[in-house]
Amino acid sequence: MTTYPYLEACYRRPTPHTPIWIMRQAGRYMPQYQAVRGEVDFLTLCKTPELATKVTLLPIDLLGVDAAILFSDILIPLEPMGISVAFEDKIGPVLSPVRNEEQIRRLRRIEADQDVPFVMEAIRMIRRELEGRVPLIGFSGAPFTLATYAVEGGTTKSFHNIKGLIYARPELADALMDLLADVVTSYLNSQIAAGAQAVQIFDTWGGILDDPEYVRFALNPTKKVIAGLNRESVPVIYYLNNGSYLAHHMDGLDVEVIGIDWRQDIQQARRTFGRSKAVQGNLDPTVLFASPEEIRRRAHGVMEKAGSEPGHIFNLGHGILPQTPMDNAIALVEAVHQYRR
Ligand code: CP3
Repeated sequence: MTTYPYLEACYRRPTPHTPIWIMRQAGRYMPQYQAVRGEVDFLTLCKTPELATKVTLLPIDLLGVDAAILFSDILIPLEPMGISVAFEDKIGPVLSPVRNEEQIRRLRRIEADQDVPFVMEAIRMIRRELEGRVPLIGFSGAPFTLATYAVEGGTTKSFHNIKGLIYARPELADALMDLLADVVTSYLNSQIAAGAQAVQIFDTWGGILDDPEYVRFALNPTKKVIAGLNRESVPVIYYLNNGSYLAHHMDGLDVEVIGIDWRQDIQQARRTFGRSKAVQGNLDPTVLFASPEEIRRRAHGVMEKAGSEPGHIFNLGHGILPQTPMDNAIALVEAVHQYRR
């Protein structure tokens, strides 16, 4: 037994209140984060354990959330694989794309401890600084989501390069997913060994594929990752964005928690896979642009629908937006903690 409501809820055990954390909880909506970013660029922040630790702790102190999440980015392990990664203001991530056989075969299979040691150092430092107040979540992108960035070279609307690869060269796409699955497995195992108490796999773009392609190129590589994790007493959360039509696959995934976005009906999700998984979600992030009263009403609506069975972790359906008023994020955490059925 742990004493953390967040971890208890991951294992679908009863908790005194519904635990909450917020995807992207340490980010640009916070003046205190902006102050740190005014001094250093985003990648330097990710690669400096003292600064990553400082930023990770901000939402614990300022919002009172029930879990911390490592401050880093899903694109960090791509760099040592041989892909250049930059973050440009207003554009977002810019990578050197890998699209043909030669580029894909040249990618390195990283060993996370050696290749991204600053991430493990940050985890050890955060655990020390947290002094047991809340558990620490580590994370990685899912293989397919990482592949979209590696192949597109950044954010995209059409996804024609990655989907083109899947349809034109499916075996080559398999090889890329296989490599990324090994990288993600190493990355998450190193995080667990360093002290991550839960790990979330972000499949932000899994929901752009139709069902059979999702199974082959997103779900199966993720299953390979999960099968390779050394994770006794470390719950695994699989977050799938835009995946309502894929909900019937979630029961078969060997994880403790499924994270869903706001388009999916949480009551339905609890019925579909709630017998075997905790469910994390799923308030629309833009509700945080309404009044504190409306935020409270909508948050309570989510918890009403999630029902009284243990195993609901409150979160937004996707990351908190940079324009969000910080007081409204505070109001959300209070509303969730005060809720009693
Ligand atoms: O949740 C947290 O507070 C932990 C830190 C975290 C970041 N990115 C920090 C970040 C986490 C868990 C991520 C995950 C991530 N990164 C995902 C998956 C989750 C999701 O949102 O779907 C994805 C797709 C990325 C890739 C990424 N990183 C993009 C597309 C961008 C640019 C767009 C944007 O929101 O700025 C980033 C940059 C990024 N990652 C920032 C932060 C705080 C903003 C960088 C800045 O300070 O300028």
